[in-house]
Amino acid sequence: MIDLIDKLCREKTLTAEEFVFLIENRNDKYAEILFERARKARKENYGTDIYIRGLIEFSNYCKNDCYYCGIRKSNPNALRYRLSEEEILSCCDKAYGLGFRTFVLQGGEDGHFTPEKMEAIIKKIKSAYPDSALTLSFGEHPRDVYKSWYDAGADRYLLRHETADEEHYKLLHPESLSLANRMRCLWDLKEIGYQVGCGFMVDSPYQTAERIAKDLLFIANFKPDMVGIGPFIPACDTPFSDKLSGSVSLTLYLLAIIRIILPDVLLPATTALATRDSLGLEKGILAGANVIMPNISPKEAKEKYALYEGKRYTDGAAEDALKNLSERMEKIGYKIVTSRGDKKGRIYNV
Ligand code: 5AD
Repeated sequence: MIDLIDKLCREKTLTAEEFVFLIENRNDKYAEILFERARKARKENYGTDIYIRGLIEFSNYCKNDCYYCGIRKSNPNALRYRLSEEEILSCCDKAYGLGFRTFVLQGGEDGHFTPEKMEAIIKKIKSAYPDSALTLSFGEHPRDVYKSWYDAGADRYLLRHETADEEHYKLLHPESLSLANRMRCLWDLKEIGYQVGCGFMVDSPYQTAERIAKDLLFIANFKPDMVGIGPFIPACDTPFSDKLSGSVSLTLYLLAIIRIILPDVLLPATTALATRDSLGLEKGILAGANVIMPNISPKEAKEKYALYEGKRYTDGAAEDALKNLSERMEKIGYKIVTSRGDKKGRIYNV
């Protein structure tokens, strides 16, 4: 096993069989070794800095019907909302004052926000805060739409691939969604020039070590700028409402492996991890993560953007909440910084 970890550190990838072995033979001792190696890689690239992103959940209307997601179209009990352009801008304004220099616009695939509307919002945000980065997390769109948003000033795009295994993708999504289109989107985004993030849920229904190995091989091959992973958490009124929650320790183990595969990747300790474990953020950072995404949406939006049960968001909309987060990070030897926090070596979209 130690030989395999050495090989992973040296070659930044393994064969599918080796990844399966690494996952199936996980124990505390090997996890600690991986965490140490991951922290070393993260320190070489980002020191002890932690980048923060102001997350704005701007709509929970969605035309899709993903089996795992609480805001899927056919959940009649989801309380729907969308923020107005003014509300979105006011979130940015407040967050800018608190030191945020990246805003993340995340929403369900809500047709109300047409490509033109999004373009106008992107332009407004970028002209009001030219020294800030803008990340979109707004699902699948045609290439020319992605291009128009990039030209309007968007810098980064988050689109989790969810699973790199065709069969597994079908078990998580209705027929209208395909892994092929998801991959098309990711490659388009990359070619256009975005800093791109992919990712997956840990312990999603029907996930296996073999399927995780495919995710890791995809990550090693695609070389995304960002990777978002968090434990699966069942959501009420979805086909997966009675499935088991994902493991925190497997999530941490995979965070470390991903950090080793891509030493300079932007890797968040996610909301789902913080939901499953009150020390999830600290544990994520100590496993190699270097990004936290505090929620700066209005309070009602935070409550209604219920992708899963018991979502415990990290509040970023108030000074004392941020101070508290800073203190938590200082306790483990890290510090929150207020730069844009681009991937090392990336050219800005200017
Ligand atoms: N548990 C954990 N993560 C979820 N997501 C959606 N539903 C759930 C859930 N029930 C994740 C998906 C999506 C991201 C925005 O949130 O991976 O890409």
